[in-house]
Amino acid sequence: MTEQFSLEGRVAIVTGGGRGIGRAIALGLADAGAAVVPSARSADEIEGVADEIEANGGDAMAVPADVTDSDAVTDVIERADDAFGGVDVVVNNAGFNPDDALGRPEDVATESLDRVLDVNLNGAYEVTAAAADHLHESDGGSVINVASVGGLVGLPRQHPYVASKHGLVGLTKSLSLDWAPEVRVNAVAPGYVSTELTEDLESNDRLRQSIIDRTPLDRFAEPDEIAGPVVFLASDAASYVTGGCLAVDGGWTSR
Ligand SMILES: NC(=O)c1ccc[n+]([C@@H]2O[C@H](COP(=O)([O-])OP(=O)(O)OC[C@H]3O[C@@H](n4cnc5c(N)ncnc54)[C@H](OP(=O)(O)O)[C@@H]3O)[C@@H](O)[C@H]2O)c1
Repeated sequence: MTEQFSLEGRVAIVTGGGRGIGRAIALGLADAGAAVVPSARSADEIEGVADEIEANGGDAMAVPADVTDSDAVTDVIERADDAFGGVDVVVNNAGFNPDDALGRPEDVATESLDRVLDVNLNGAYEVTAAAADHLHESDGGSVINVASVGGLVGLPRQHPYVASKHGLVGLTKSLSLDWAPEVRVNAVAPGYVSTELTEDLESNDRLRQSIIDRTPLDRFAEPDEIAGPVVFLASDAASYVTGGCLAVDGGWTSR
């Protein structure tokens, strides 16, 4: 049974793979046997993750890129192919939710909405499209989009983020139809995870407690807890799963 979860011989790109959830996913995929290409804008962070994978006996190569820069994205895919011979798995994890995109819709500038959509949604599409040929040539082509509970339900004062993540879930479903049966396309929807993104939220006692009170499992997740479901979706253990969005939210959306 455990063989089905193995990613031995596969090559995986992880955007936003330098810290937080992306770092945990990169380490998890490598642990399952994949050669991993962590990518993000901060070269030092992705190099640290690649070093960690190599120190654990795995194969990795850090390639810096901004997901909104199509030349840089093409470079990531080409360098992954040159180094490891193809691309089998793409994890679109790069994302953000900046302060200027928080607030009532009438108080948030259109530019802030555009910027969030550009990174969280268009960036994911850019990377996926750049890898399309390789994914179709692979025996186990798989795309996993890191959405959010904000891709399943509305969240107050976060309409850019929520729009981007609902878009990502929609993109997941559409691509899964267009690319079946060769390439599986799925999403995960994390709830609240302890990372730099949620640092401010977690350090505010009232907000942290209100989230915990709403979460049946009674706590924030650790980044590793998102990596397991992503490894599963990337692997043959999920060979009949496509177009899905797996909530990894401690039960948050079951209320
Ligand atoms: N933490 C949560 O509670 C939570 C919940 C649900 C969903 N998520 C989603 O999970 C993903 C990871 O979040 P996180 O909490 O791990 O955040 P994080 O710690 O802030 O990490 C975000 C990663 O994305 C990269 N990134 C941001 N903008 C980028 C761009 N334009 N091009 C390339 N890389 C970019 C960052 O690296 P650079 O800045 O170096 O580029 C970093 O590696 C995001 O999509 C987020 O929306 C998080």
